[in-house]
Amino acid sequence: MKRYLGTIVLAVTCFALGAAVQRFYDLRRAALPPVVPTAETQVAPPVRPIQFDQEPLWAYGFDTLAKAGDKAAPQAAPTRNLRPNEDQTEQTRPRRAAGSKAEYSLVDVRDGGNVIDWFPGDHRMPMPRIIKQGPAAGAGNTARGCGSCHLPNGKGRPENAPPGGLPVSYFVRQIHDFRDGLRRTADPRKPNTNTMIDLAKVMTDDEITESAEYFAAIKWTPWIRVVESELVPKTRIAGNLFLPIAQERTEPIAGRIIEMPENEEQAETLRNPHSGFVAYVPPGSIKKGEDLVTTGGMRMSGNEIIQGKTTPCVTCHGLDLMGVADVPPIAGRSPSYIVRQMWDMQQGTRNGASAQLMKIAIAKLSPEDLVAVASYVSSRLPPSAAPSEKRMTQTLASR
Ligand code: HEC
Ligand code: HEC
Repeated sequence: MKRYLGTIVLAVTCFALGAAVQRFYDLRRAALPPVVPTAETQVAPPVRPIQFDQEPLWAYGFDTLAKAGDKAAPQAAPTRNLRPNEDQTEQTRPRRAAGSKAEYSLVDVRDGGNVIDWFPGDHRMPMPRIIKQGPAAGAGNTARGCGSCHLPNGKGRPENAPPGGLPVSYFVRQIHDFRDGLRRTADPRKPNTNTMIDLAKVMTDDEITESAEYFAAIKWTPWIRVVESELVPKTRIAGNLFLPIAQERTEPIAGRIIEMPENEEQAETLRNPHSGFVAYVPPGSIKKGEDLVTTGGMRMSGNEIIQGKTTPCVTCHGLDLMGVADVPPIAGRSPSYIVRQMWDMQQGTRNGASAQLMKIAIAKLSPEDLVAVASYVSSRLPPSAAPSEKRMTQTLASR
């Protein structure tokens, strides 16, 4: 009986705490003034110097520390030019992605200025110009469609972000934050976040709304397989993405999360948006993460409650972690992305008005806690996951 009593007290306390935080959050949010870019908000300084030596490098797609003064070279503008170092016919011959009836060459696949669509049936709305070609005012680096990085079905990839199924208001706020200098990356070498910021700066209000509505209309389905493992395949990093150089797992995971395509040819070479990712996480991290996500790490000692390290994520993100109102859904999304966002918030480089409560909630989480939390969150499948796509991921995985 005593054991049950403990559990009941814990459950009631969690609920009360949750309600209180939600209420605080609602009040606080209502009171927050809308972010109007002014001279002061243009560039929000980090709260303290960025802790470069602590950075979860793998979450940013690096394996060495940044040095003082490092910065990202601007990304090249999209092009249909043939690559001189690759066979010409290989680049121009028509190809097919698994499961698709369409045909495209590598030149088409790589042309970010006119995004290909292997599965037009994935999105109810046809791709608008902004998703296919990018902002009307875009030139050079910004003459590229959102779908080139985020994929036409919004699945995104570990090195960018998964905008599929995000609430419109949350989405719009992120574009504004990028534009207004409130969201940038803690690793100055990461080039695609800068392209994202440049795109946000040239988008019109209509393009922002149109892209938000396009991605919001797409339901999130499973895309990432989370596997606890002491060992991972040896990898190389290309464009901040980990790619396997062997299939056998021989390298110690060493506290990292190593996320890579299930099938490199499909996901990377052909950018097949049905070919998902596998994320190796350290053994024990899913269970540890579950505790932090659902209770915040709170403990009962006799009749005493020992406060946890964080507000349970479920309080704000919903019991199924699929988001509540404009708090974004996080279940089943890239763990590298999730850790990167939390690290950016802790370092103060993701600093929008709405990120402030989240920042307070995760302030005490160590880099190891972030790994655990992300492992659990990513391993949660959205309840309404489409079975057909789940099968697809498994088929590709078993190859
Ligand atoms: C060059 C690749 C690239 C292109 C093209 C691109 N993005 Fe992004 N986007 C990113 C990256 C990278 C991030 C995440 C930034 C980070 O982690 O530092 C991001 C993040 C986002 C987010 C935030 C998602 C979240 O969950 O908070 C939204 C919204 C978004 N992009 C919308 C767009 C729209 C709309 C377009 C088209 C106009 C676009 N992106 C084009 C790279 C890109
Ligand atoms: C007090 C409420 C609150 C709590 C508790 C909270 N979050 Fe959040 N979280 C938010 C809000 C609000 C945002 C959106 C911030 C913004 O608009 O930039 C957010 C954003 C995020 C994002 C970025 C999503 C994206 O698409 O970029 C991640 C990841 C995240 N939270 C994970 C967590 C995890 C994991 C926990 C628990 C350790 C947690 N959150 C606890 C309110 C909360």
